[in-house]
Amino acid sequence: MSLFVRKNIGSLLAEAGSGTLRRELGPLALVTLGIGAVIGAGIFVMSGTVASQNAGPALTLSMVFAGIACVFAGLCYAELASMIPVAGSAYTYAYATMGELVAWIIGWDLVLEYSLSSSTVAVGWSAYAITLLGEMGITIPPRLTGAPGVHICLPDGTHVIGVFNLPAMVICLALTGLLMIGIRESARVNTTIVIIKVAVLAIFVAFGAHYVNTANLHPFIPPNTGQFGSFGWSGILRGAGIIFFAYIGFDAVSTASQEAKNPGRDIPIGILVSLAICTVIYISVGLVMTGLVPYTSLNVASPIAVAVQATGLKWLAPIVNIGAICGLSSVILVNMLAQSRIFYSMSRDGLLPPLFARLHPRYRTPHVTTAITGLVVAIASGLFPIAVLGQLVSMGTLLAFAIVCMGVLILRRIEPDTHRPFRTPGMPWVPIVGTLICLYLMSGLPLPTWIRLFVWLAVGLTIYFTYGRFHAAAARDRPIANAA
Ligand code: ALA
Repeated sequence: MSLFVRKNIGSLLAEAGSGTLRRELGPLALVTLGIGAVIGAGIFVMSGTVASQNAGPALTLSMVFAGIACVFAGLCYAELASMIPVAGSAYTYAYATMGELVAWIIGWDLVLEYSLSSSTVAVGWSAYAITLLGEMGITIPPRLTGAPGVHICLPDGTHVIGVFNLPAMVICLALTGLLMIGIRESARVNTTIVIIKVAVLAIFVAFGAHYVNTANLHPFIPPNTGQFGSFGWSGILRGAGIIFFAYIGFDAVSTASQEAKNPGRDIPIGILVSLAICTVIYISVGLVMTGLVPYTSLNVASPIAVAVQATGLKWLAPIVNIGAICGLSSVILVNMLAQSRIFYSMSRDGLLPPLFARLHPRYRTPHVTTAITGLVVAIASGLFPIAVLGQLVSMGTLLAFAIVCMGVLILRRIEPDTHRPFRTPGMPWVPIVGTLICLYLMSGLPLPTWIRLFVWLAVGLTIYFTYGRFHAAAARDRPIANAA
C-alpha cells in the first residue's frame, strides 16, 4: 500500500514554505531561465541533420509539430506548477497524483532529461569551443577532444582515437562552481548569455533574410525516397521527433518554483512565454537557414555557420560561433540547476540520503547535490558520444511529459476544489492529446534506446526497494522541518 501513498497538496505547500532556498526570481528571470534551458544544440547542431536527412526545407514544419507537442505539455506543466510550486516539478506532481513509486520512477527518469541533456550539450559545446580556440591559435591535444573509442579526424586526414572529452568536462565543472555560489549569480550569468544568444540568432535572421534564394525552398517538401523518415510527410514526422530535443528544457522553469518570488503567477508565465519565444525563433532561423543554402549541404555539426557562408558576410561567422557557445553554456547551466533541485526535493522526502538536501549556510544553494550532479554530468560528457546521450534525453523527457499530462487529469478528479492560479484550457482534451503525442514520439525512438531506458529504470527500482522506500516512510512520520 505504501508504494502508492500520495502526498496531499496541503502538506506539499507547507513543505515548500519551510524550505530555505532563496526567493529571488521574477517573471523576466524565469522567462530567461526557460530560454536559457531551451535554445542550444537542437537549433545550433541538430537542425542541419533534420533538414539534410529528413525534412528538407520543411524542417520548419517539423519544428511547428514538435512545438505543438510541447505546447500541450507546457499548458499541463503550467497548471501543476502554479498549483504545487515545489522544486521537485514532475517528480512532486507524480507524488501528489500517482503515489510514491511512480514519483520515484519519474524522479529517477528526470536524471535522463536534465543531467544527460547537460552532458549531451557539453559535447556540442566542446566542438564549438575547439573551433573557436583553433581560430585563436590554441590547440588542445586531439585525443582529449572525444569520448573513448571515438575516431577524431585531423586536418591532415589522419585519425586518432579519443581518450576523453576534456573541454566538455571543464565547462560542466566551471558551471557547477557558479551554481554552487548562488541562484542570483547563476540567474544573472544566464540572463547575460541568453541575451547574447537571442541577439545573435536575431542578427542571423535579419541579415540572412536579405540573401535568401527562394529556389532553395523548392520543393518545400522533398519527395519521399521510398524509406520511412527520409523526406516526404514521414520525414517531417521523424524530423519532429528529432527536433523535439530543441524544445526540451522549458519545463526546467518549474524546478525554480521555490526560488520564484510569486510562483503561482510567474511560473506559468516563465514556461509558456519562453516556449512561445523559442518557437518563433526556431521557425525564423529554420526558414532563413534552408533558404540560404540547398538543404543537402546542411549535414554538418554547425549548419548555421554553413548558411552564413552563403551570405558572404565574413563578420557574421565568428558572431554565430560565439552565439552558439553562449547558447550551449546556458543549456548546461539551467539543466544542471534543475537536476539539483529535483534531487533536493527527493532527498527532503527521504527517497535520497539527507546529504542531497543540505543547503550551504551562506549561499543557500544545495551545494552538495550541485557538486555531485556536476561531477556526474562532467564524467558522462567526457566519456560518452553525443548520439547515445541525445536519444536517451528525448526518451526520458517524453516519459516525464506524458506523466505530467496525466497528472493534470488525475488531480482535476481527486482534488477538484484546490486553488489553481493557472488552469489548463480545453479540458480534458489538452492533457489527453498531450499524452498521446508523447507516447507516439516515444514509439518512434530506436529499440536500443528503449533497452537503455529499462536498464536505467531497473537500477532506479533497486535503489528504491533497498533504500528509498524505508527512508521515505520514516520521513513521512517526521514533522516538517528545515533541511538546512
Ligand atoms: N533544448 C536543448 C538544446 O537544444 C536541450 O540544447
